[in-house]
Amino acid sequence: MSNTRQWPTEDCTRVPNWVYSDPENYQQELEKIFYGPFWSFVGLECEIPNAGDIKRSQVGERSVLMTRDEAGDINVILNSCAHRAAEVCQKKFDNSTALMCPYHQWTYDLKGNLTGVPFRRGQKGAGGYPKEFDLKQHGMRKLRVESVNGAVFATFDENALPLKEYMGEDVYTRFTRVFDGRKIKVIGYQRQRIKANWKLYPENMKDSYHATLLHVFLISFGLYRMDQEGLLFHDERTRANNVVASTATAKDKLAGKEEMISFKDSYALLDMRQVAPVKEFNDDITIQNITLFPAVTMQQQQNLLQFRNVVPIGPNEFDLQWTFFGYEDDDDEMTLRRTRLANLTGSSGYISVDDTEVFEFSRNGMLPNNDRNCVLEMGGYDTETPTKGDMVSESAIRGFYEFYRKIMYSE
Ligand SMILES: [Fe+2]
Repeated sequence: MSNTRQWPTEDCTRVPNWVYSDPENYQQELEKIFYGPFWSFVGLECEIPNAGDIKRSQVGERSVLMTRDEAGDINVILNSCAHRAAEVCQKKFDNSTALMCPYHQWTYDLKGNLTGVPFRRGQKGAGGYPKEFDLKQHGMRKLRVESVNGAVFATFDENALPLKEYMGEDVYTRFTRVFDGRKIKVIGYQRQRIKANWKLYPENMKDSYHATLLHVFLISFGLYRMDQEGLLFHDERTRANNVVASTATAKDKLAGKEEMISFKDSYALLDMRQVAPVKEFNDDITIQNITLFPAVTMQQQQNLLQFRNVVPIGPNEFDLQWTFFGYEDDDDEMTLRRTRLANLTGSSGYISVDDTEVFEFSRNGMLPNNDRNCVLEMGGYDTETPTKGDMVSESAIRGFYEFYRKIMYSE
């Protein structure tokens, strides 16, 4: 961190605006967070069901390949040739018996081991690699991989905790409520580029305060009320992995609506199937947002199941990758229901389109005002670990920044 950049307070009730745009700070985030001892979501096992299947994914700004090898194992490999660093695979999905770099045709197996180098012995006794050149020393870089019942995560750092321990018990329990061992199937994808700092996204998913104030759709059609019972779990180790959940869909329109300027009493939905969920899990939780440090969220909103993966592109832009999924044994009606509910989110979703717009407002308000700070005092000044909380709290965002500061600024 440059000396001119100081955090204004001891605690995280203030977050300085420069944290969202400073290029040097951003480079350190890549090194210490995205390429450090933390897990990034790279895909679902069901996306690569067959031997030879390859999915191109990302960890931070680095392209990686998730592959299924002949033994059925899943590998995640840095998508960069060990020879001259070229990206080996350009396709989003592929199937092949090997990975071959297009530049000089160095060839690797599906685990990233180098198996062939053209003209290794030269030509007619001239050129080629020295005799002692050892293919084993020149494989592609391999990441550590773990899967939670079909959700695949990878890390560059051998020192990362095992994934379950990394998530923390409460968060793992909530995660495996959805990833409970049943086979998953993908329903669809969306991608969007948002002109704002990547951290605004995990913040937003931890931010129950804004839900009824920003999202006209949610409140106008009674999908969410601030007086619903809220659940807030943190992992006890970091407080940076969180579950923000709420129970029971409101039957009436909103209580306390006079406080919400965006509430539109006259709005009605012509097609109620857009918001017609059925009870699916063995509890009353209708919305469950799990955010895993650094930047992936897994959400259940009624029967809508999705990952939202944040891929940073410089300090002022990120890609948001949506993966909508269900279970392999869903009947057609359930798949159609999940698909209809997917209108709520995604790049132009009835709800999430508001967030996209506001992220850019945040960027516009932050960028020229780096001497100012954001205020995060909602829900008190806790530094301990609340495991339950009301929904009017910014505690989960403070938790994120407390952990963030430990990683970023303590040697
Ligand atoms: Fe939102």
